[in-house]
Amino acid sequence: MYIFKSDKYIDMSEKDLWYQSWFDTPFYHQLYNHRDEAEAERFMINLMRFLDLPKRSKILDLPCGKGRHSVFLNKLGYRVYGADLSEKSISSAKNFEKEDLSFFIHDMMKPLPDKYDTVLNLFTSFGYFDEEDNIAVLQNFVRALNPSGIIVIDFLNIQQIRNNLVPEEVVRRDAIDFKISRCIDNNNLVKKIKFDAGDRSYEFEEHLKCIDLSKFKEMGEIAGLKIKHTFGDYDLNPFDEENSERLIIIFE
Ligand SMILES: C[S@@+](CC[C@H](N)C(=O)[O-])C[C@H]1O[C@@H](n2cnc3c(N)ncnc32)[C@H](O)[C@@H]1O
Repeated sequence: MYIFKSDKYIDMSEKDLWYQSWFDTPFYHQLYNHRDEAEAERFMINLMRFLDLPKRSKILDLPCGKGRHSVFLNKLGYRVYGADLSEKSISSAKNFEKEDLSFFIHDMMKPLPDKYDTVLNLFTSFGYFDEEDNIAVLQNFVRALNPSGIIVIDFLNIQQIRNNLVPEEVVRRDAIDFKISRCIDNNNLVKKIKFDAGDRSYEFEEHLKCIDLSKFKEMGEIAGLKIKHTFGDYDLNPFDEENSERLIIIFE
């Protein structure tokens, strides 16, 4: 496994740091380039229509990546704060900073520096740690909420993934063939990503805890949260455990 530091890749074996290395590479953004601004805008239009937040509500988008949701939410009139562990993503997002839109580096395992009306955790940005630390992340979100605040988690639907698991796949993006293998190992969804770029070979892994709706309910209760609504996709269709693409949860 390689970690990207000081503009070069360093071989490293610590699997539990995968989220620090992989997301900070240009290759992550290349592989997921279909997860774009248009998708973010569609989801945010639907979600904000549903939530009906007061204008100028203070929203935390954590993790925000390069800010695709934050930028659009600010255009809708909200005060938006985007945070992410990836220095490169935050540096890119900062190009969009303006009044009521700012970005900062933050590890979601750590307490937040401020309070917000809504915390958004979008596009499978949860479940990276062991159970105790995943709950600690939820608790950090809760402590960062103003009274009557809302937390939205947009996660994959693990049952639909199990039903349709594609064990091997090659995804071509620009000139790179990403060879992807997927399996469920010890309640983790593991995605191995191998590719050649330039004169180097790379190998990265994504590890996600298999968290279903009942597990989210249990973890939310420990953190003092109640599930108010669930949805199954970015058009906010009802959640169907067997078939929905996404598991979108509104916690209060
Ligand atoms: C799948 S991406 C989603 C990013 C963004 N929400 C989007 O939709 O484009 C997951 C993000 O989580 C960030 N991340 C991983 N571990 C993190 C941590 N411990 N604290 C904060 N951000 C983290 C990564 O850097 C990456 O930007």
